[in-house]
Amino acid sequence: MDTKNTKGILLAGGAGSRLYPLSKVYSKQLVAVYDKPMIYYPMATLINAGIKEILIIADSNTIPFYQKLFENSTENNLGITIQYAVQEKPNGIAEAFIIGKDFIGKDNVALILGDNIFYGCDEIFRKEIERGYNTIFALYVKDPEQYGVVQFSAQNIANKIIEKPMNFVSNYAVPGFYIYDSSVVEVATKLKPSNRGELEITDINNHYLQQFNLDIILLNKGVTWLDSGTPDSLLAASNFIASIEQRHNIKVGCYEEAAYRMKFIARKQLLDYTNTLPNCAYKDYLLFVSNNMQDNLDF
Ligand code: DAU
Repeated sequence: MDTKNTKGILLAGGAGSRLYPLSKVYSKQLVAVYDKPMIYYPMATLINAGIKEILIIADSNTIPFYQKLFENSTENNLGITIQYAVQEKPNGIAEAFIIGKDFIGKDNVALILGDNIFYGCDEIFRKEIERGYNTIFALYVKDPEQYGVVQFSAQNIANKIIEKPMNFVSNYAVPGFYIYDSSVVEVATKLKPSNRGELEITDINNHYLQQFNLDIILLNKGVTWLDSGTPDSLLAASNFIASIEQRHNIKVGCYEEAAYRMKFIARKQLLDYTNTLPNCAYKDYLLFVSNNMQDNLDF
């Protein structure tokens, strides 16, 4: 596929039942991961990957919360556009492409799951988006049975992805960041629901894999992928983020900083935006970024 514009879909609905009662009143992607709502992290990942046009998909109860959360994150303020679309029921991750059909149009699309937190992956994702092939990622994990898992042939070639395998397949899990061309809309439209009644992202990946039209990039030990969908993984994610942020005086998942780093906005826009925030550590950090990262030099 050609290198063309890539849009981003952030899927942030779902029942969140594993986090109940944290997810009883509002969606789990609004729950705090250390010092900010969970959805900030995938939002920053999309922007750090170079994506400016974002569609958030969620249930109709939750969308007003996201609209409130991102109300100042406009094209004028941060150089990004955020649209919203409703997924009535959690019918499966692959339904995002059916719901997002008009948004995607003829462009490529990167999908990120609202409870996936990546650290150290920005450059890799940016490079793959620029390359523009259908691409998924895989990472060694201790508990692969909770994820989509890559099966390898005797020649060590990936030949299938298996969703939550009952028997051991490999330790290589597929994280929730996927890149496709616009043909993914048609592939998703033709899917049948799985035994658990969902349109599976894994079926999309197997479709492209069978056509030799899918790259699987192994992420190495230098990167971190956190799932924050259970109480234990949520706490672990918060502790991880807290220790990095405190040690280095940075913020992970600060999507406003991402917009500045990606040069979607100039320093003045960042300062204007920051001045609208209430006095808090987050504002202080953005002031620190705008004062110490002039001309986008690293601090
Ligand atoms: O985290 C990576 C894994 O995500 C992949 O390895 C699996 O292949 C993939 O199926 C998915 O597995 P999960 O069982 O963890 O997906 P979960 O149902 O927890 O949904 C992931 C996110 O997507 C979560 O933030 C809720 C949202 N979601 C999910 C579904 C099924 C929706 O917004 N709508 C949906 O219909």
